[in-house]
Parts: sequence; structure tokens; C-alpha cells
Amino acid sequence: MTTPPKKSKKSNYAKFILQLLIKRTHKIEIKSIPENSVIDIGGGGEGIIAQIGRDRITVVDKLQSEIDEAQHKAPEAKWILADARNLKFSDGQFDSATAFFSIMYMSNEDKREVFKEVYRVISQKGEFWIWDASIAKEEGVFLIKIKVIFPDKTAVRTAYGVPSKKQNAELTKEMLQAIGFKVKLTEIHKHWYLLKAKK
Ligand SMILES: C[S@@+](CC[C@H](N)C(=O)[O-])C[C@H]1O[C@@H](n2cnc3c(N)ncnc32)[C@H](O)[C@@H]1O
Repeated sequence: MTTPPKKSKKSNYAKFILQLLIKRTHKIEIKSIPENSVIDIGGGGEGIIAQIGRDRITVVDKLQSEIDEAQHKAPEAKWILADARNLKFSDGQFDSATAFFSIMYMSNEDKREVFKEVYRVISQKGEFWIWDASIAKEEGVFLIKIKVIFPDKTAVRTAYGVPSKKQNAELTKEMLQAIGFKVKLTEIHKHWYLLKAKK
């Protein structure tokens, strides 16, 4: 799922389309996702985590259009229209949580609020796994094209794009730690990273 800049910003729009054509595709192999019940934050669009975990996954997305795009790919999952900064779930309701290329769509302030809510709604032994883009530029448009390989070796190709903002594994790790998470794994690739944090 990509969000192109508004057409009125012609130069940004043209750059975005150009990047979409010329960017190389990065391979992301998902070997596993957390066990048991999982809340997937911002999981519409492609619905990658729901396609893997199926009925174990509760997907939360704040846009109905993104849910509509993904729901048919994993109808067994639970699809909830909600803002992850304010979740209507009880404390410890889920075993774990995931966010697959969704925090790049959030401001730093929103990330902090979402991380606090995730911390609250997962169990004491819960984990929070985040796959996201490393973005160095502060301006322009950032776009990443990926090929996701599922644990069963099937694959999907997609692209995610946002107005550029600085984010990387280190900054995300600091935010998680400030909330109380302990980061137990940091996997850094050239243009994306995977973090696994524990409560
Ligand atoms: C790239 S898209 C979808 C990525 C998705 N995980 C996938 O598998 O393709 C990121 C999503 O995050 C959602 N999102 C951003 N901020 C959110 C928030 N505060 N609460 C819930 N969803 C949010 C957006 O609506 C968008 O659908």
C-alpha cells in the first residue's frame, strides 16, 4: 500500500512515480510471527501478518479503506476499525503484538502513544515485533518496494510510501525502551529492520 503525495504537489508526485518505477525490490523473509493471539497494528493494506497468522490475528487499522483492501486475503482474522493510540481492549488481552511497515505512517508522538497501548494490551510474557523501514531523509518522499516471503515460501510484492521522516532501528528502540520494553533482537538490513521487544 502506497500513499502518493497529492497531485497538486506536482514535483513530489512525479518523483514518487519515478521512484516507483526505478527502485529495486528488497526481499523480506518472514520466518515466523509471535505465537498464540496477536494484535497487528496498522494491519490493513496487504494484511501481511493476518495472511500468516489467520484466525490468531486481530488486525487494527484506523482506515476502513485499508481494511477493505486486505480483509478478503485473510477473512478468518478479526478486522477492527480503530486508532491504535486508544485501543478498546483490556490489559493483557493479547499474547503478543506486531507492526509490519505501519509505524512509518505515524508521527513520533503517535508512535509513543501506540507503543504505550501495545504495552498495556499484551500479556506479561508478551512480545512486540516491528518490521519497518530505515529512512534517512527528512524531506521528499520515501518509498520502499518489497517482496515478502511467507513462512510457507509463497510470496507477495508490495510497496509502501510516505512523506520522508527520519526513522531507524535505533530511534525506535529508544522509544520502546522509554516505555518499558526490553529489546531482545535487532536485525538491521540496508533499508529496513526487525525489532523484537519483550515486556
Ligand atoms: C503501509 S499501511 C499497511 C501495512 C500493513 N501492515 C500491511 O501488511 O500491508 C500502514 C497502515 O497503518 C495504519 N495506521 C497508521 N496509523 C495508525 C493508527 N494510529 N492506528 C491504526 N492504524 C494506523 C494506516 O491506516 C495504514 O493502513
